[in-house]
Amino acid sequence: YKKITTKSLIDMKAQGEKISMLTAYDYTMAKIVDSAGIDVILVGDSASNVMAGHETTLPITLDQMIYHASSVVRGADRALVVVDLPFGSYQSDPKEALRSAIRIMKESGGHAVKLEGGKEIKESIKKILNAGIPVMGHLGLTPQSIYKFGTYTVRAKEEEEALKLIEDAKLLEKIGCFSLVLEKIPAKLAQQIAESISIPVIGIGAGSGVDGQVLVIHDMLGMNNEFSPRFLRRYMNLYEGMTSAISQYVDDVKSKDFPNEKEQY
Ligand code: KIV
Ligand code: NA
Repeated sequence: YKKITTKSLIDMKAQGEKISMLTAYDYTMAKIVDSAGIDVILVGDSASNVMAGHETTLPITLDQMIYHASSVVRGADRALVVVDLPFGSYQSDPKEALRSAIRIMKESGGHAVKLEGGKEIKESIKKILNAGIPVMGHLGLTPQSIYKFGTYTVRAKEEEEALKLIEDAKLLEKIGCFSLVLEKIPAKLAQQIAESISIPVIGIGAGSGVDGQVLVIHDMLGMNNEFSPRFLRRYMNLYEGMTSAISQYVDDVKSKDFPNEKEQY
């Protein structure tokens, strides 16, 4: 695949090729992630946590998401760029949802939007799709509903919630979403959903039976030490790497080692 499109992802699922997805929130990170060969870059509203330092994803605004997304788009050549609609930009009514999605597409140049929820936001998703904007769904642990859940623990362990999840996944496929994120649900349930629909299911904390995986880049690079859920694999300890580089720099400045003869004009 030269440039990844929503169609490429559906083809990948049909051919059994797993889809790789990571978040990015700025130009430099997006450029690295894209060059390394990622299929999908998610401009997640997790920017609220990892970029802005908020406790939850709720405070980030549409304007802020557009700023992050436009930076990411400038850094991405090959990957499909999906942008989260933030809390409060689509829940009121379908018209508001469409207006927000249009702003993202026009002002950031992103390629698709992602919304949290199933049946409750069906009309909004339809309206966005009718405007020609591809939509990725997001079910399971949907962090914009954290105050309803009251906990970040695994979702859909009980039958009632599992059944609603299956229904919602089928609904999202039926109305025309091109893909779907399942967050923090039992692996067996996630696999069952992935096998029952034809659109690709991207998991985070949803096991290996789905069609692709997504992680928050700060987490997988080990930039934050405190966050250690079971589903997270750390590919680096960038927290330690950066801390030691920076303290070395501090030492070098203090000791007058930096800059040396060759590092000046
Ligand atoms: O905002 C985000 O990073 C996400 C992923 C965790 C799926 O929605
Ligand atoms: Na998100």
